[in-house]
Amino acid sequence: MKFSTRAIHVGQEADPATGATIVPIYQTSTYTQRRVGEHLGFDYSRTINPTRVALEKQLASLEGAEYGSAFASGMAATAAVLNVLSAGDHAVVTDDLYGGTYRLFSRVLARYGLEFTYVDMSDLAAVRAAIRPNTRLLWAETPTNPLLKLIDIRGIVELARAYQSLGLHQRPLVAVDNTFATPYFQQPLALGADVVVHSTTKYIGGHSDVVGGIAITNDAGLFDTIKFHQNAVGGVPSPHDAWLTMRGAKTLALRMREHARNAQEVAEFLESHDGVARVYYPGLPTHPQYELAKRQMSGFGGMVSFVLEGPQERALDFAHRLRFFSLAESLGGVESLICHPARMTHGSIPKEDRERRGVTDGLLRLSVGIEDEDDLIDDLTQALDAVAPASVS
Ligand SMILES: Cc1ncc(COP(=O)(O)O)c(C=O)c1O
Repeated sequence: MKFSTRAIHVGQEADPATGATIVPIYQTSTYTQRRVGEHLGFDYSRTINPTRVALEKQLASLEGAEYGSAFASGMAATAAVLNVLSAGDHAVVTDDLYGGTYRLFSRVLARYGLEFTYVDMSDLAAVRAAIRPNTRLLWAETPTNPLLKLIDIRGIVELARAYQSLGLHQRPLVAVDNTFATPYFQQPLALGADVVVHSTTKYIGGHSDVVGGIAITNDAGLFDTIKFHQNAVGGVPSPHDAWLTMRGAKTLALRMREHARNAQEVAEFLESHDGVARVYYPGLPTHPQYELAKRQMSGFGGMVSFVLEGPQERALDFAHRLRFFSLAESLGGVESLICHPARMTHGSIPKEDRERRGVTDGLLRLSVGIEDEDDLIDDLTQALDAVAPASVS
């Protein structure tokens, strides 16, 4: 089965009780047992729920995997994966990553004795240099948020596989946050990663109406640990949220093609505009890792970041003038959004750290939606004209 067919059919069998073609929202917390322990495989909805199981099967299949555990948010999924580590373990983490992930690692998990080193993982030598005898996890987010750098997943996997030559007793796990690329454009497990995490709030749900997350793997042991954590901690999605996410995911392929087409247009337009200092988009030949992007991804996604010429107030003024790009956190919905990472998504990273990583106050990030591309370009043009300094206009 090809991708779009899997999105619509895997886990989506007609309901065994009623024949309902669409998986029902099993809005139940518990299940009646005929006799003690005699039931149909469902006992309590924190542990297992048929609507959630359908979503887990659907999304695991999109990543080419056996196992998925759905969570109430991307952060809950991330926390569950980090549960495989124990106090004293160390993780190497990409330094350009979602601010909430940084906050979880540095301000929550570090208090439990986990150690994190943040490096530019687009530089494999830097990753190698950061590995210590107690390194148990390599955590990559690619393309990175918000600078859209690429991390060579196969390169990271090869480093992990060469663990003995790096002085490690155990191969570190490779985890990839695949939220930006989605399984439609990037398949980290096929490149050798151990586990993929998504904020399904983004492209997978696709309509900015539900928060969720999932961890997906082919490793039965790792899945058991994650599943144990899911049940023990309880960060599960409601049946209704699981159902909304599943409905959104059915059109992932269609939407991603449109997101990428519009984003390419927008990136090329911005790059050609005098008022724009720099554009970050993996589908531009000027992107430093364009060759890797072509190798590792089958499309370049819908996220575009850029820096406007001039003072930072101009960037904020520009963002406020747009009509079709709502000023909002999040990304991946059908509607276009703009955000100012330094004050919004990445506000939880200390300013000094943020700026060192290139997340400056002049940076803007677009989640390019699937509106008509002409309307999007017209909107960007009018806002650029309105904020243009006299010398440019
Ligand atoms: C790349 C990435 N990973 C994880 C998350 C966290 O997901 P959630 O907001 O669903 O908890 C986000 C949220 O913006 C994200 O952008």
